[in-house]
Amino acid sequence: MIRAEDVSKHFGGLKAVDHVSLEIAEGSITGLIGPNGAGKTTLFNTIAGLYAPTGGRIFLDDEDITGLKPHQLFNKGLLRTFQIAHEFTRLSVVENLMMVPAQQSGENLVNAWFRRGQVAAEEARIYQRAQEVIAFLNMGHLADEIAGNLSGGQKKLLELGRTMMVDAKIVFLDEVGAGVNRTLLREIGDAIIKLNQEKNYTFCMIEHDMDFIARLCDPVICMAEGKVLAQGTAEEVKNNEEVIEAYLGRGLKNKEAAV
Ligand SMILES: Nc1ncnc2c1ncn2[C@@H]1O[C@H](COP(=O)(O)OP(=O)(O)OP(=O)(O)O)[C@@H](O)[C@H]1O
Ligand SMILES: [Mg+2]
Repeated sequence: MIRAEDVSKHFGGLKAVDHVSLEIAEGSITGLIGPNGAGKTTLFNTIAGLYAPTGGRIFLDDEDITGLKPHQLFNKGLLRTFQIAHEFTRLSVVENLMMVPAQQSGENLVNAWFRRGQVAAEEARIYQRAQEVIAFLNMGHLADEIAGNLSGGQKKLLELGRTMMVDAKIVFLDEVGAGVNRTLLREIGDAIIKLNQEKNYTFCMIEHDMDFIARLCDPVICMAEGKVLAQGTAEEVKNNEEVIEAYLGRGLKNKEAAV
């Protein structure tokens, strides 16, 4: 579904992403791991259109999408969440979800003004969808809660919910499990699996928690210092010499703690 060919993203002299080639298969939940500073988020940002690559090309279903802007990619069904959740703190959960379609498609007030008749029907449809998303994520008890009051994990769940407000094909999740308690992490994992199986979402997820990765992801790709080091099952990557080396090189004490 996604093919990156020889993609680089340099910041001045820093080669954050350096000649990366990889593929994300349709229907997969692909994991992206690697030590801090490996270039994982930069690669996500480059694929999702936040950065223009310094070199290389990116394809979505064989269409060259290199250099397209996030909203253009959004309209093609390519979505991403952020390492730090960015909800509207003063709006409720259901309102946060309802913001997504209009906000991301470049909808504006002038447009709404000229199409006032359609707007009410549209809003009812979006409200309905938001309620479905909330039910899907078992967040019914939180629907009217102000997003600013949610726990870190609940905000991550809301981030996932945002990707369900439109018809996504592929979703990039950046550390959706970071700082989330075990119970909620399991729920987020369940939601991802359910979206993958029932709604045919393809996922690519950056994660540091290797148990979480092993439960969800196949294949797993490991990056270090801007390059792809290894790809395989979670077990294969975990036991790969170069991968262990990359983590150890960063001063972690043992292989279990590292990967
Ligand atoms: N906007 C930027 N400007 C300059 N340097 C950047 C920028 N974004 C990232 N970098 C640098 O690029 C390298 C890769 O960073 P990146 O955030 O992609 O790593 P990461 O693998 O996501 O790490 P982490 O696991 O800590 O989130 C780092 O050295 C980082 O300092
Ligand atoms: Mg990162």
